Amino acid sequence: IAAPDLSLCENSTVTSSSSGTSMSVPCCPPKATNIIDFKPPRFSNIRLRPAAHLVDANYLEKFTKAMELMKALPHDDPRSFKQQANVHCAYCNGAYDHVGFPDQQLQIHFSWLFFPFHRFYLYFYERILGKLIGDPNFVMPFWNWDSTPGMVIPDIYVDPTSPLYDEKRNVDHQPPKMLDLDYAGTEELLSKRDQIKSNLSVMYRQMVTYKTPSLFHGAAYRAGDNPSPGMGSVENNPHTAVHRWVGDKREPFSEDMGNFYSAGRDPLFYAHHCNVDRLWNIWKSLPGKKRTDFTDTDWLDSSFLFYDENANLVRVKVRDCLNSRTLGYDYQKVNIPWLKNKP
Ligand code: C2O
Repeated sequence: IAAPDLSLCENSTVTSSSSGTSMSVPCCPPKATNIIDFKPPRFSNIRLRPAAHLVDANYLEKFTKAMELMKALPHDDPRSFKQQANVHCAYCNGAYDHVGFPDQQLQIHFSWLFFPFHRFYLYFYERILGKLIGDPNFVMPFWNWDSTPGMVIPDIYVDPTSPLYDEKRNVDHQPPKMLDLDYAGTEELLSKRDQIKSNLSVMYRQMVTYKTPSLFHGAAYRAGDNPSPGMGSVENNPHTAVHRWVGDKREPFSEDMGNFYSAGRDPLFYAHHCNVDRLWNIWKSLPGKKRTDFTDTDWLDSSFLFYDENANLVRVKVRDCLNSRTLGYDYQKVNIPWLKNKP
């Protein structure tokens, strides 16, 4: 799948899964004439993205400052909070076609594009934040929902005066409410203990029992193919469950987290996806010969476009993101309780 042609970008269509109504939303990015091919960054040390519930006051101050500055950028700046949220909308709600296939919409979910697309998306988001505070070593936090202390919305995101806050969230799911990693829209009234147990078995099942690249990443998706050929284990749940659990049910399209077009408007989205990204690293480190990435060149050469920290448009290829360490980052080591939690 080739990177989309931005000059052919169109409004996105958003449909409500419950009522079936739809609306048209403008999500196209600012146009650029020049495209740069991605080169892996140079760095001297691997930066570790921290668990959101473990960060200190110093870190929080930097992170909030960066988000504040991003929110203050003019709306037509491709690095602004609004444009960055629209990146997700455009790639997920039908703003682009496959190059050469004007009838085939590009959808980066529900297929093998899921992990690499989001990895690059976070990568550039983080670089923009770092640039805004003049700290090229800045890292974003991950929402450690696969471990017991992380199974609530992290504190730093629930202060209504913080730029990390978003009011369009399910009011019943504020801390100390325990997250449900196979949430499908209805509340299960489990005790705290049983909920933890259930979450850990979801994690074990989705991470340990799925042993091949297509079961983990999702199905092959090539130029001209119909969208959504099939999602991988983690994309399904816990990934989708967390989106639905955070989104505000009172909103017509379960905004913000409950719909692709609006998910990037909640700062929590990026912490959620950092954890998804971290699980990609962990999956490959589990024992088993088949736990590797695809070697299919249609996957490796798939490409996307993102604006970088200098507002330059960059073309990236899946093959350049397979190891997060070549991008200069990894994740803080924390306990992984589900590994021993065979249901
Ligand atoms: Cu692009 Cu979590 O969705």
